[in-house]
Amino acid sequence: MRTVLKNIGQLVTWDENLGEMVILENQDLVIALDRIFSIGLSADIQDAREFDCSNCVVTPAFIDPHTHPVFADMRRKEFELRVQGADYQAIAAAGGGILNSVRSLRNMSEDELFDRSLPRVKKFLEYGTATIEAKSGYGLTTMDELKSLRVIRRLNESLSLDLIPTFLGAHEIPDEYRNQRDKYIRLITDEMIPAVAEENLAVYCDVFTEKTVFSRDETEKIFDAAQAYGLRLRIHADEFTAIGGTELAVSRHADSADHLMKVSEEGIRALKNSHTTAIILPGTTFFLGKCDYAPARRLWDEGVRVALATDFNPGSSMTQNLSLILTLACVYMHLSPLEALQAVTWHSACSLGLESDRGILAPGKRADIAIWNVRDYRDLAYWYGMNHLKSLFKNGVREEY
Ligand code: NIG
Ligand code: FE
Repeated sequence: MRTVLKNIGQLVTWDENLGEMVILENQDLVIALDRIFSIGLSADIQDAREFDCSNCVVTPAFIDPHTHPVFADMRRKEFELRVQGADYQAIAAAGGGILNSVRSLRNMSEDELFDRSLPRVKKFLEYGTATIEAKSGYGLTTMDELKSLRVIRRLNESLSLDLIPTFLGAHEIPDEYRNQRDKYIRLITDEMIPAVAEENLAVYCDVFTEKTVFSRDETEKIFDAAQAYGLRLRIHADEFTAIGGTELAVSRHADSADHLMKVSEEGIRALKNSHTTAIILPGTTFFLGKCDYAPARRLWDEGVRVALATDFNPGSSMTQNLSLILTLACVYMHLSPLEALQAVTWHSACSLGLESDRGILAPGKRADIAIWNVRDYRDLAYWYGMNHLKSLFKNGVREEY
């Protein structure tokens, strides 16, 4: 039986033929199985399940292209310290931060980690997100990285949410390798990456390329191994210091370069007309109490493809609410509400190589559709801090919460 989303007040989507976002009124959208069958004015379909969408906004379900959702414990204490003035990087240098999450994840069995992650990850659906990119990176041993990626695989099998897995063994240098960096890089390239590939546990390999973490040369070595084993590339680049991560991403044909708070002129030049999407994470800048938002407006005006993500993680961005990210992108980065919407649908699909399938509403595309309880799409950013989701269709099926 087909489903008809009837009388949609505003349908907002990327239009591939026009090459721009469109806002259509009074449309009916017909779903057949897991696909969009048609979009048009007053479809008269016999025997269809009808779902009234008058006074609602309908968009492609959101796609969150940068998350760290598999962790053991919260880091509330660090939050409290930061609120009192402690610096995120200083907390990390004192053994907290990522290494704090590493200690707790190593102490947890795969089953426990799965049980703890499941209800948390399910929340993405409640906020209108139907696909996320999901990174490992709190294990930093072969066993614990594989454990995290297996949990991501099990979450993908257990939920209608799609998780695109990324291996992030290069998230930090673990304590036991603090004075033997080369040895840890070799562990990543010679043992972890082959093991991840052997079990087919990741689509992507990511590196935290930063002055205090992995250098550009170290990143190159890791990328060499990743590509040799068929992994595609993403990168944490130019978050706190510009050390050429963005330029490297472009030269290695990475699908994305993420963060970019400190991206250089060379980095911006490299991104122009490149394959690489700039993934901007204003929630992180906000939650770290910083003011130096990435230059998303400038990047957009220069013709760079800009996507937005939550960066959901227990240290620097504890939110799964992409609508809130839209608000931050509008207020602090001066993207328009329509651009911000494009960034969490079409552009985020492009950054994950999923653009033939989702991030857009058109016949033949996957029926991943968000229905919002607002009359105007701008309200998603404007009426902020709210969850306006009325219903989510994932693969043509209405989610129940
Ligand atoms: O994207 N920048 C590096 N990694 C994460 C933070 C991880 C953490 O603090 O646990 C990020 O912000
Ligand atoms: Fe991140």
